[in-house]
Amino acid sequence: MESHHNQGVVILDFGSQYTRLIARRIREQNIYSEILPANSSSDEIKKHNPKALILSGGPSSVYSESAPKHDKSIFELDIPILGICYGLHLLVQHYGGKIETSDIQEYGFDEIKINDKSGLFEGLPNSTKVWMSHADKVSSLPKKWKITAESSNGIVASLVCETKKRYATQFHPEVVHTEKGKEILSNFLFKIAKCDATWTPKNFIDEKIEEIKKVVGNTGKVLNAVSGGVDSSVVAALLEKAIGERAISVIIDHGLLRKNEAQDCVDSLKKHLGVNIHLFNDSEIFLEQLKDVKDPEKKRKIIGEQFIRSFEKIAEEYGQIDFLAQGTLYTDIIESGGHDSTNSAKVIKSHHNVGGLPDIMKLKLVEPLKELFKDEVRKIGTELGLSDTILRRHPFPGPGLAVRILGSITPERIRILQDADEVYISILQEEGVYDEIWQAFSVLIPVKTVGVMGDNRTYENLLGLRAVTSLDGMTADWYRMSDKILSKISNKIVNSVSGINRVVYDITSKPPGTIEWE
Ligand code: XMP
Repeated sequence: MESHHNQGVVILDFGSQYTRLIARRIREQNIYSEILPANSSSDEIKKHNPKALILSGGPSSVYSESAPKHDKSIFELDIPILGICYGLHLLVQHYGGKIETSDIQEYGFDEIKINDKSGLFEGLPNSTKVWMSHADKVSSLPKKWKITAESSNGIVASLVCETKKRYATQFHPEVVHTEKGKEILSNFLFKIAKCDATWTPKNFIDEKIEEIKKVVGNTGKVLNAVSGGVDSSVVAALLEKAIGERAISVIIDHGLLRKNEAQDCVDSLKKHLGVNIHLFNDSEIFLEQLKDVKDPEKKRKIIGEQFIRSFEKIAEEYGQIDFLAQGTLYTDIIESGGHDSTNSAKVIKSHHNVGGLPDIMKLKLVEPLKELFKDEVRKIGTELGLSDTILRRHPFPGPGLAVRILGSITPERIRILQDADEVYISILQEEGVYDEIWQAFSVLIPVKTVGVMGDNRTYENLLGLRAVTSLDGMTADWYRMSDKILSKISNKIVNSVSGINRVVYDITSKPPGTIEWE
């Protein structure tokens, strides 16, 4: 699918941990932004049609051998450029100034003195707190450049070449610790680069609908695998608006979803949004294949393969299918290193472990969310009218409960886990903590321990509860759940879910642990 007509900002990534944050901060001001690799040429950048270029920070020194390569043609671009930290060093070096390793390395807060309140600093006070993180500094200015702010140590904090519209900051305006960071970026974006605030959910939806119509054509059919999560549901809603009945959304129930989940998902998409969605219950086939399988990686593989077979079978029922829709996100693309949109096809979203599916089926991909961050998908979903339950739902792994039942999977164990998990999750919702948690679930540990209920000794399974906070699932911390809530959950589960007589709470962070147990 064609990339967005940028009209926003291209950011070249020189390796800073904050590069993505720059993109987010720009988008928060309703301006589109994209991250491209450090060595992109001016021609590549022009293809994205930006109104401004930002050179990110990075860990290297501009004179070092290992510094990321860049293409000098970028400086010929007739659009404003903002260099941040390493980006500042690049600009200064290119235009004939000098950078040297500073005796004073500045990390953390500094109060800068602003000398020139035009340009980046319009409307700012005479001094302001900023976030610094650098070892190198400007030691000689390029001709026709002037210093606009200095650090408390007298180091150049910002400089400009007005005639060329080149701006640079030694500090990081994108981090929240920089008090007036938002204003500084906003001056650059709106006053200097004359960007328009058009990156809004409504515009995105309108543009995507037009784009899907164009790509799919007047007769093309699109198959969309829905998982019950936000991404695939938003894709389903967009497709419905764009091509109506020619979009076929399917949910494959592998028997390892949460209690009533498949039906709930169908209901919310069909009733509220009129999505053409079909539920296929293949749970018997899946469970038959998983019989006596204990190894989690084997479980994943079996489910992944069966998923493809079920999917192919379903596709055949619908006759000629031309496209496969995927809820690939921007983070999936930049994480794979495939900044280039043409690479995105290699990243197959693993919500159903459907890797290889398009290859086998020779379908073209439709990926309407590939420019979006997760929180933007939620905003689009809200605008499209998706229910709160879908929008706020915690992530759920493709293999589902299969990786949350340790050891072999039986119908009885699935029943126990579904019941226990339902109690757990509803209490989190009742207590108003569900949204503070990134992901919460229960794990069935089929190890029997002793208990007493009334006059009877019990000998039942153990249940593990997991709740973590996280930004993206890469790292996570265990959620500090209150005693009161923990005890309510434990009491209710042991008293109402037959098959469980003991509950434990997982207090392992990631790393060294993982979020799932298997
Ligand atoms: P871990 O356990 O690796 O989990 O810390 C990180 C995130 O990934 C999810 N996860 C999976 N998702 N198929 C998926 O679609 C899988 O096989 C799988 N394993 C883990 C997990 O739920 C968490 O959100």
